[in-house]
Amino acid sequence: MTQMAAVSTCCTHHLLPLLLLAAIVATTTTNHAAAAATLNITNLCPFTVWPAAVPVGGGRRLDPGTSWALDVPAGAAPGRVWARTGCTFDATGANGTCLTGDCGGALSCTGYGEPPQTLAEFSLGQADGQDLFDISLVDGFNVPMDFLPAPPPDQSPPCSKGPRCPANVTAQCPGELRAHGGCNSACRVFKQDKYCCTGNGTNTCEPTTYSLPFVRMCPDAYSYSRNDASSPGFTCPSDK
Ligand SMILES: *[C@@H]1O[C@H](CO)[C@@H](O)[C@H](O)[C@H]1NC(C)=O
Ligand SMILES: *[C@@H]1O[C@H](CO)[C@@H](O)[C@H](O)[C@H]1NC(C)=O
Ligand SMILES: *[C@@H]1O[C@H](CO)[C@@H](O)[C@H](O)[C@H]1NC(C)=O
Ligand SMILES: *[C@@H]1O[C@H](CO)[C@@H](O)[C@H](O)[C@H]1NC(C)=O
Repeated sequence: MTQMAAVSTCCTHHLLPLLLLAAIVATTTTNHAAAAATLNITNLCPFTVWPAAVPVGGGRRLDPGTSWALDVPAGAAPGRVWARTGCTFDATGANGTCLTGDCGGALSCTGYGEPPQTLAEFSLGQADGQDLFDISLVDGFNVPMDFLPAPPPDQSPPCSKGPRCPANVTAQCPGELRAHGGCNSACRVFKQDKYCCTGNGTNTCEPTTYSLPFVRMCPDAYSYSRNDASSPGFTCPSDK
C-alpha cells in the first residue's frame, strides 16, 4: 500500500517567488510500525534554493522547476525540511554560506539551519498509525511553503489536507523583526515569555503585535501562540 503527501513552498510571479513542493510517498513495508516515506521537494521559485533536510537527506542545490525525491526510511526520527537561500559554495561545492537557513556552511546539513527559516516538519509512523506533518514559523519565515498530502488515487479521505503558507511574510515583517532574506520570530529577537509562550506565558500566550503578521498571512502554520486551534498539525494514515 502506498500513501502520499506533499510539502510545498509556493510562489507565483506575483506573490510567491518560491514553490518548494514535497510529496510524502509512503512505500510498502511489512511492519506496521515501520512507515517509510518519500518527499518530493520541488522548487517552483524563479531562483535557485538549496533545500536541506535532517536527520535524513542532508541538502543539495535545487534550480527552479526541478525536484528532489527524498526517501525517508522507516524508523527515522522526526524530521524537518527547509529551503536555504542566497548560497555560495566553494569550488568543491561542499563548503560555503547561505543568506538564510545556513547549517554551518555545509552543503549537506547534519544539523539545523540558522533562522529565519520556514520549516516543514514531519513525524512518521506514530503509535496511533498516523503520520504527523506541519509547517512551522517558530523559527521565522524565509520562503513560502506548502506541505500537502498527495494520496494515490485509491487512497480514501481524510488524507487530503495539508498546511499552506503561500504569503510572503517578509514583505509585511515588523521592522524590529526584519532580517536579511526573511522575518524573525519575536521570540528569537526579544527572548521574552510572552513571545515564546514559555514560563508564565505558557498557558496564556496569545497572538501579539509581532506574531499577527505570521498568524494572519499563514494561518495553517504554527507560530508563537497558544491560541492555535486554527493552526493544527495535520495527519495522514501511516503506511501499513
Ligand atoms: C515531483 O513533483 C513534481 C512537481 O509536481 C513532478 O513534476 C515530479 O514528477 C514529481 N516527482 C516524483 C518523483 O514524483
Ligand atoms: C570551508 O571554508 C572555511 C573558510 O574558508 C575553511 O576554513 C574550511 O577549512 C573549509 N572546509 C572545508 C571542508 O573545505
Ligand atoms: C518578499 O518580500 C521581500 C520584501 O519586500 C522581497 O525582498 C522578497 O523578494 C520577497 N520574496 C518573495 C519570495 O517574493
Ligand atoms: C510568574 O507569575 C508570578 C505570579 O504573578 C510571579 O510571581 C512571577 O514572578 C512570574 N514569573 C516570571 C518569570 O515572570
